[in-house]
Amino acid sequence: DRKIPHTFVIFGASGDLAKKKIYPTLWWLYRDDLLPKPTKFCGYARSKLTIEKLKENCKQYMKVQAHEVDKYDEFWDLNEYVAGNYDGRTGFELLNQQLELMENKNRANRIFYLALPPSVFDEVTVNIKNICMSTCGWNRVIVEKPFGRDDVSSKALSDHLAGLFSEEQLYRIDHYLGKEMVQNLMTIRFGNKILSSTWNRENIASVLITFKEPFGTQGRGGYFDEFGIIRDVMQNHLLQILSLVAMEKPVSCHPDDIRDEKVKVLKSIAALELKDMVLGQYVGNPQGRTEDERTGYLEDETVDKNSTTPTYALAVLHINNERWQDVPFILRCGKALNDRKAEVRIQYHDVPGDIFEGNSKRNELVIRVQPGEALYFKMMTKTPGITFDIEETELDLTYEHRYRGFYLPDAYERLILDVFCGSQMHFVRSDELCEAWRIFTPILHRIEKERIKPIPYLYGSRGPKEANRKCEENNFKYYGSY
Ligand code: BG6
Repeated sequence: DRKIPHTFVIFGASGDLAKKKIYPTLWWLYRDDLLPKPTKFCGYARSKLTIEKLKENCKQYMKVQAHEVDKYDEFWDLNEYVAGNYDGRTGFELLNQQLELMENKNRANRIFYLALPPSVFDEVTVNIKNICMSTCGWNRVIVEKPFGRDDVSSKALSDHLAGLFSEEQLYRIDHYLGKEMVQNLMTIRFGNKILSSTWNRENIASVLITFKEPFGTQGRGGYFDEFGIIRDVMQNHLLQILSLVAMEKPVSCHPDDIRDEKVKVLKSIAALELKDMVLGQYVGNPQGRTEDERTGYLEDETVDKNSTTPTYALAVLHINNERWQDVPFILRCGKALNDRKAEVRIQYHDVPGDIFEGNSKRNELVIRVQPGEALYFKMMTKTPGITFDIEETELDLTYEHRYRGFYLPDAYERLILDVFCGSQMHFVRSDELCEAWRIFTPILHRIEKERIKPIPYLYGSRGPKEANRKCEENNFKYYGSY
């Protein structure tokens, strides 16, 4: 396919996601000569923009080095922009003319990236299908969350998309699937005998998957208040990580074999119940250093003053299968916490028949997704020297040390490149999505209907104390402060 022109269309080109992620990603892929040649790019949005203005919008996110300036200008020379409405045909007809012009009316492959609010989704996809599809090359459509807000709306969206495109044409992005350590989970598990044979209920006591951010809604309050942390992070990013940690070994690395296993393990998880959850909402910290830290969620002007939307959630999931019965999988995520972190902690059982007077701690395998990719195994050793004391230490694979100077691409770089290559391995299939909503819909409805009050926690804290208690009740032992 490398000789055929490719055209990458960005819907929502004037928006936040486009300027922060999509344009920078396209530039980095272009900079590193990873895109097929020729590839051209065309933005589409309602605002009347010029390429100059678009360039200006994206500037601070592009990370252009002094020696790359010529190539950077070359990249923008390959860009066009069309302004038009999301409804009606006119804008899309203009867009299609522009695409044909860019492709010199040749056979071409087209990728459509939908960085759009859900409200215009249906119309845009219908218009793409009717007006903008390449007639003699392939077409691929990249879709961003939210994929609905519960099982029914997500199914309606899936049915709508399935009426327009085949599953092979649809790329549902969950950008956590593009992260180095998330992609590494399969290798760690299935490429190491020592791990594959201990990866089960006989050896593992509990699994804790954490996502923390040290900032609040930051101007995204309008969107966030409608969705909440469970839909924003837990139902997608954390559940995807869980399925890679818990799934059975796929028969091969073929994308469908992997996704078959992910669906299977999701099917073994019961719908979440309130007794297995802790919900929180941050309040301003009067001692905070910045205005943001002093501002509580309810003081965000874009948030409803009486909102009960959680900004923190912990959920214990139970997998009913032979490998995992009675092993709690604890997912927790929150905004405005003390730290930025995403990690998986696999905690092993206590050593039976203790001879160290209770001083032995549980082994833990920690997979740190960010910041600073790392894999370390916490284990007990004899304290070096004349003593016979024991202490906890780590077998430490911190990437910064082991792979110093290695370029780790951003998640979006890998994923967008995958779309060019036609690999759906790291994209969400519609049946996965359906299972994810099955697990979360009843609890989301209950929380909303009963207006369950989240527990207040201070901006910059570790979240509600009740969350630690819930971890301890679920066979996760705290030794430090995670
Ligand atoms: C997004 C959420 O999907 O992921 C955001 O909508 C969140 O609320 C973001 O901040 C986190 O992504 P990352 O890659 O910075 O961990």
